[in-house]
Amino acid sequence: MKARWAIEFVGTGSYAPEQRVPNDHFTSYLDTSDEWIVQRTGIRERRIVAPDQSTLALSEAASHAALAEAGLTPEDIDLIIHATATPEHPLPSTACELQATLGCRWIPAFDIAAACSGYVYALINAAQFIQCGMARTVLLLGSESLTRITDMEDRGTAILFGDGAGAAIVRPSTDPERGILAARWGADGSRAKAVYVPAGGSAEPSSIRTVNERLHYMKMQGRAIYKFAVTMMHSLVAETLDDAGVKLDELALLIPHQSNLRIIESAAQRLGLGMDRVAVNIDRYGNTSAASIGLALDEARKEGRVKPGDLVMLVAFGAGLTWASALIRL
Ligand SMILES: CC(C)(COP(=O)(O)OP(=O)(O)OC[C@H]1O[C@@H](n2cnc3c(N)ncnc32)[C@H](O)[C@@H]1OP(=O)(O)O)[C@@H](O)C(=O)NCCC(=O)NCCS
Repeated sequence: MKARWAIEFVGTGSYAPEQRVPNDHFTSYLDTSDEWIVQRTGIRERRIVAPDQSTLALSEAASHAALAEAGLTPEDIDLIIHATATPEHPLPSTACELQATLGCRWIPAFDIAAACSGYVYALINAAQFIQCGMARTVLLLGSESLTRITDMEDRGTAILFGDGAGAAIVRPSTDPERGILAARWGADGSRAKAVYVPAGGSAEPSSIRTVNERLHYMKMQGRAIYKFAVTMMHSLVAETLDDAGVKLDELALLIPHQSNLRIIESAAQRLGLGMDRVAVNIDRYGNTSAASIGLALDEARKEGRVKPGDLVMLVAFGAGLTWASALIRL
C-alpha cells in the first residue's frame, strides 16, 4: 500500500535525566502511597532534571543520539520542529536555541505547543514540509522538563510527571510504501482549562501574588481527562486503522502517549489488542508529555521490538485538549 506521506525514520534518539525518583519519595511528605500510585497510574519511578539541566540540554542529548544513528551531522538538518510545553524560555523558541547549540546552519526552527500530542503533531508537520519540498532532513523532538511546572505539594499531579526527550530524524523515503499511511489530529479548545498553567502568560503575568498562590504550576482536572482519554484513545486508533484499510492484526506495535497505565490498558482492551503489542514505559518515566512517544519509539527501535517495514501506530492526547494519531510503516 502506498504511504500517504512517504517518509523514513533515519535515526531516533532519546534522553532521560540520570536522577531517578521512586514513589517512596512522595510518601515522605505527601498523603499518598506507593500502592496508590502504582495501582492508579502504573508509575514506579520517574526521572528529574538536575538543577543545572533544563529542556534544551535534554533536547540536545536526544538530538545527538538521533544524528549518530542516522550517520548525519547538524549541518545536514534543514528544519527543526520542537514540541514542548516546558520551553527553555518563554521567548524565543527552544528550537532556535537548539539550532545554535547543535551548530546547525541558519535553518528554520520552531516550537509546537500541543502538550502531550506534541510529538505526533511535530511528525505530521514534518511530513507536510517534506511532501511539499520545503525540507529534506527534519529533526523533530518532543522534550520536557515537566517537573519544573509541577506543584510538588499537590499529590494529584506531583506523582504523575517526569522529564525526558525523544528525537527523530525523518527524510523522504525512496520506498513509496514506507511512511505515514494515515494520520488524524484535532483539538477541543473549550476544554483548555482541563490542564493549564494559570500564570506566566499574557493573561496573568507572573507576580509575587501569582507565585505565592502557586499559579505558575500546572492545574489539572485529572478525572475529566481520564474519561476523555479512555474514550478518545481507542476510537482514534480504530478510525486511523480504518482510514488506511489496515487490520488490527497487521499492527506490530501501538505506541500510546504514556499518561496512565489504566488508560493504555483500557484502550488496548477495547481494541482487542494484547498488551504484548503495546509499548509501555510509564513505570520508569511517568508522564513525560511530548517526550513520551519519542522515548518509547526510540526504545522499541533500539530493542528490536520494531524493524523496518513494520506497522506502528502512534496515538496521543493532551492539554488543549489536543489529540493526534499516525499509522506508520517504518
Ligand atoms: C490523576 C489520576 C491518576 C487520578 O486517578 P483517579 O482514579 O481518577 O482518582 P480521582 O481523581 O478520582 O481521585 C480519587 C481519590 O484519590 C485521591 N488522590 C488523588 N491523588 C492521590 C495520590 N497521589 N495519592 C493518594 N490519593 C490521591 C483524590 O483526592 C480522591 O480522594 P477522594 O475520593 O477522597 O476525593 C487519573 O485521573 C489520571 O491519570 N488522569 C489523567 C491525567 C492525565 O493524563 N494528565 C495529563 C494530561 S495529558
